[in-house]
Amino acid sequence: MKEVVVLVYVLLLVLFVSVSNAKVTKTNIIENFLQCLHNQTRSENPIIEAVCTHDNSTFVSSYVSYTKNKRYSNPKDTKVIAIVAAKHESHVQATVVCAKSNRIQIRIRSGGHDYEGLSYISSVPFVILDMHDLRSIIIDVSKKQAWVNAGATLGELYTKISKASKTLAFPAGVCSTLGAGGHISGGGYGNLMRKYGISVDNVVDARVVDVNGNILTGATLGDDLLWAIRGGGGGSFGVILSWKINLVDVPETVTVFKVNKTLEKGATDVLYKWQLVSSKLPQEFFLRAMPELQNVAIPSKITIAVVFYAQFLGPAKKLMEIINKNLPELGLKREDCYEMSWINTTTFWQNYPVGTSTSFLLDRPTDPPGAFFKSKSDYVKKPIPKEGMEKIWKIMLKFNNMFMQWNPYGGAMDKIPANATAFPHRNGNLYKIQYFALWTDANATDANVGLMKEIYEAMEPYVSSNPRGAFLNYRDMDIGSNPSGKTNVEEAKIYGSKYFLGNLKRLMQVKAKYDPENFFRFEQSIPPIRAM
Ligand SMILES: Cc1cc2nc3c(=O)[nH]c(=O)nc-3n(C[C@H](O)[C@H](O)[C@H](O)COP(=O)(O)OP(=O)(O)OC[C@H]3O[C@@H](n4cnc5c(N)ncnc54)[C@H](O)[C@@H]3O)c2cc1C
Ligand SMILES: *[C@@H]1O[C@H](CO)[C@@H](O)[C@H](O)[C@H]1NC(C)=O
Ligand SMILES: *[C@@H]1O[C@H](CO)[C@@H](O)[C@H](O)[C@H]1NC(C)=O
Ligand SMILES: *[C@@H]1O[C@H](CO)[C@@H](O)[C@H](O)[C@H]1NC(C)=O
Ligand SMILES: *[C@@H]1O[C@H](CO)[C@@H](O)[C@H](O)[C@H]1NC(C)=O
Ligand SMILES: *[C@@H]1O[C@H](CO)[C@@H](O)[C@H](O)[C@H]1NC(C)=O
Ligand SMILES: *[C@@H]1O[C@H](CO)[C@@H](O)[C@H](O)[C@H]1NC(C)=O
Repeated sequence: MKEVVVLVYVLLLVLFVSVSNAKVTKTNIIENFLQCLHNQTRSENPIIEAVCTHDNSTFVSSYVSYTKNKRYSNPKDTKVIAIVAAKHESHVQATVVCAKSNRIQIRIRSGGHDYEGLSYISSVPFVILDMHDLRSIIIDVSKKQAWVNAGATLGELYTKISKASKTLAFPAGVCSTLGAGGHISGGGYGNLMRKYGISVDNVVDARVVDVNGNILTGATLGDDLLWAIRGGGGGSFGVILSWKINLVDVPETVTVFKVNKTLEKGATDVLYKWQLVSSKLPQEFFLRAMPELQNVAIPSKITIAVVFYAQFLGPAKKLMEIINKNLPELGLKREDCYEMSWINTTTFWQNYPVGTSTSFLLDRPTDPPGAFFKSKSDYVKKPIPKEGMEKIWKIMLKFNNMFMQWNPYGGAMDKIPANATAFPHRNGNLYKIQYFALWTDANATDANVGLMKEIYEAMEPYVSSNPRGAFLNYRDMDIGSNPSGKTNVEEAKIYGSKYFLGNLKRLMQVKAKYDPENFFRFEQSIPPIRAM
């Protein structure tokens, strides 16, 4: 009898606890989180104005303004409970502490360009920690260094550098709206990389909020953590507040050109030759090849053109000599070449006509994304035979809108050891491929995603293998992923070994040291494993 009473009592207790827990989850989680944020910050930097929940009329616009892929831009498809657009470093610290104590996941967003939307989607309840208001940039010309906040865009950084000096630059990506937070932590790949390596090769310090809400920098930022966030992706280790970077020298005159060859005009032959020479040119040269569809509007005329984009750190005369010697098949003419300052090359790379003002570099478009896209990447270590290229063209022609970027390696990329930073794809690559498909009709998603799989399968014999390398900044969920709330280590090793090759082991150890309980987790995060 007594046992029965105890049992009933226990059952009631269990029932009560679970009911009240459910109530806590449903109604109080946001209030607790907000109250905690309030408690954790000081009144001179009130956090309330930085917080946006579904009750705010600006919630949807705040969500979509830093989304770039229409596939993931509907907040209704996610379990987002709040957006904290930090206006002060203490807001970042509070968000980490309070999300952790309330068992809410966070997604960190700087520029919002993540190809798979991982900075703003999740299928478990989460908060977006949005860094876009933390965007100051301080340049020290005499030391050739700068501090760049995570929420600054590349366009803002390039503008600030060029205002301070005509002969300094920073090696990073082409698109001006990329956020320094995500872009640099994922590697940061751009047209100065054959001369100076990628962004992470030019990062010397950072300010990072760790899982306990502490700011680590300088002497308190371990070498191992600084190593990991240079190419390992920021989101697995903490929140990057800012980067200290070295600026690099560029001449006052830089030369660019853009010429193209269609298949009918011998594109395959020129591209074949490009594979043999592009990684061996002087490292001042960056010659990108972009196979793309042409004349899609006229079915009888549809073809592929390979567009060659070049940047040379020097005058046109010298550039012409180098091309005539190494790739005369291009048929380059002096009038194809434009000499300009480094800052003005940004207009060229974003496809504006020569002479366009660089004021677009400061634009922060807030419209919802207009297009859906899917991207994948590969590394190529030996030339693709012409038959292989013909195979690729056949599949490309099935798309409505698709292009590839073949980005030459060599130069500094061959000289920097694969373990110098967490970014591992160095020596031994001829070039890197990005595949990119774009569409505007939601109904075309399955067809495009399917075609991307088809082209990726067809490329397998020609690209790196065991593992097949992939570039973290070109995030691709097809190469392995975990559910939002759980990290399966075996699965993590699959995508991890593709992104990080031999650096994965050390990345997992650094993760175990700085975030042993795996608070900073998402679909492609690095799991905390001490030994393997
Ligand atoms: C149009 C376009 C052009 C591109 N061109 C290039 C290029 O030339 N070279 C190149 O290398 N890449 C390029 N990319 C890829 C780009 O570098 C990556 O998408 C990069 O992750 C974007 O950074 P973000 O801050 O804008 O993105 P976000 O979506 O904000 O973040 C990307 C990832 O980083 C994490 N993260 C963001 N901020 C922080 C932070 N402060 N602390 C910790 N983790 C953080 C996010 O959680 C997410 O996982 C391009 C992308 C697009 C859409
Ligand atoms: C916030 O602080 C108040 C007063 O110190 C305290 O009663 C409350 O429990 C705290 N709330 C949270 C969520 O930290
Ligand atoms: C959201 O609404 C709250 C309460 O009205 C307000 O204090 C806060 O400033 C709003 N947040 C934003 C980002 O507008
Ligand atoms: C290719 O070059 C031709 C002639 O120079 C030009 O008309 C065309 O627009 C170019 N196409 C691309 C995709 O750049
Ligand atoms: C960049 O181009 C613009 C427009 O042609 C020109 O006015 C400006 O002087 C150029 N800037 C530099 C630094 O060369
Ligand atoms: C990189 O590898 C080399 C050779 O294996 C080793 O000597 C060096 O300590 C490693 N560097 C780092 C940063 O791990
Ligand atoms: C997409 O498919 C839906 C459902 O089949 C259909 O109603 C809609 O008209 C289609 N949209 C376009 C642009 O074809």
